[in-house]
Amino acid sequence: MHTTGLLAALLAPVVVSAQLHELAVKAGLQYFGTCIGESASQSDTAYMNILSDKREFGQLVPENGQKWDATEGTRGRFTYTQGDISASAARRNGQLLRCHTLVWHSQLPNWVASGSWNRQTLTEVIESHINNVMDHYRGQCLHWDVLNEAVDDNGSYRNSVFYRVFGTDYFPLVFNLAKKADPVTKLYYNDYNLEYNGAKTEKTVELVKIIQAAKAPIEGVGFQAHLIVGTTPNRAQLATVLRRFTSLNLDVAYTELDIRHETMPPNSQALSRQGTDYANVVGSCLDVDRCVGVTVWGYTDKYSWVPGTFPGTGAALLYDDQLRKKAAWTSVSSVLAAAATGSNPNPQPTTIITTTRPATTPTSTPVVVEPTPTPSSPASGSEAQRWGQCGGQGWSGPTRCVAPYTCTYGNPWYSQCL
Ligand SMILES: *[C@@H]1O[C@H](CO)[C@@H](O)[C@H](O)[C@H]1NC(C)=O
Repeated sequence: MHTTGLLAALLAPVVVSAQLHELAVKAGLQYFGTCIGESASQSDTAYMNILSDKREFGQLVPENGQKWDATEGTRGRFTYTQGDISASAARRNGQLLRCHTLVWHSQLPNWVASGSWNRQTLTEVIESHINNVMDHYRGQCLHWDVLNEAVDDNGSYRNSVFYRVFGTDYFPLVFNLAKKADPVTKLYYNDYNLEYNGAKTEKTVELVKIIQAAKAPIEGVGFQAHLIVGTTPNRAQLATVLRRFTSLNLDVAYTELDIRHETMPPNSQALSRQGTDYANVVGSCLDVDRCVGVTVWGYTDKYSWVPGTFPGTGAALLYDDQLRKKAAWTSVSSVLAAAATGSNPNPQPTTIITTTRPATTPTSTPVVVEPTPTPSSPASGSEAQRWGQCGGQGWSGPTRCVAPYTCTYGNPWYSQCL
């Protein structure tokens, strides 16, 4: 009991004060992040203060700013005012950036959606769009959602302008063009309802296989996870679906997580059930080795897209509309803390870094507690652990990684042991 007490004493202050991204990294994920609402970011300082805390949100993604209608509303005229809001915030705060999205049937300007194209002319349009936008954000995106929502809920390929011109040939085409434009960022397919819609999931597996059979470079699948309180699948079910894709040699991530109430306003029982549903989603990511991170689609009910898109529903996020943490925040924090401290039944990391970057002694090394040391990951004073930061502007911590991980460039302000 003496040892347990000592360990608890060591860990307690860390867990109590820790925030979601910090805990996620200790639990073996690469990040916990949020989307950033472009208009809220310009007007709401309190909103930005929470969003800018890297210990809480280690990763950002723009809600709308990088979409086709925002970046190339008129053919050949590229504007990045909206898209740069998220990129600038991530740079300022030292956060990772997911980039979203290049080819999508929605928020697609009319000149593309209603143009009359053949394969050659539409290829030119897509190539120009991908080249310009990816070039603008080159070196800043951890991931790019190259292709978004190409499968319909009824399990057929979506009838978009792209599908009408190319059939399934545009799937490998857009990934090849993206790889040519930026060979470093990880290329994702991203969609919703993959979490529980069997027909859609089957078709998406087929889509991935079409891309892979064409030897095009798809590297991950994003599960948007726009879910509903009370009907969210359990942790094991969710992990099983994630593994459909990791077994195809892909990374997976939750990319747009929110869990909405269908009865408004929610009572305390419903809020607690929402917490359980959130914990199951985050827990399933912890359970799957190549699930790299979780992104919520906004963090506060104050600015959620949900009530506007699904009228009568809402309260889908981790903070309420007064920017106060909800029961769901505590649930997410708890499931991450359990994994971070090894009390999870399936812990991924065997190492807990209690101090990643001592503020006063920048050249000193992380304090490492190893509850279950493994021969393959020796604790070394000058080496960062898996997922740990190992470089970037202003970084003065370790620049080497424990074996077998290598220090991998993410963006100018963040390299990581992968
Ligand atoms: C699937 O749904 C889309 C859009 O609602 C529709 O256009 C299409 O015909 C449907 N396909 C099948 C096979 O039902």
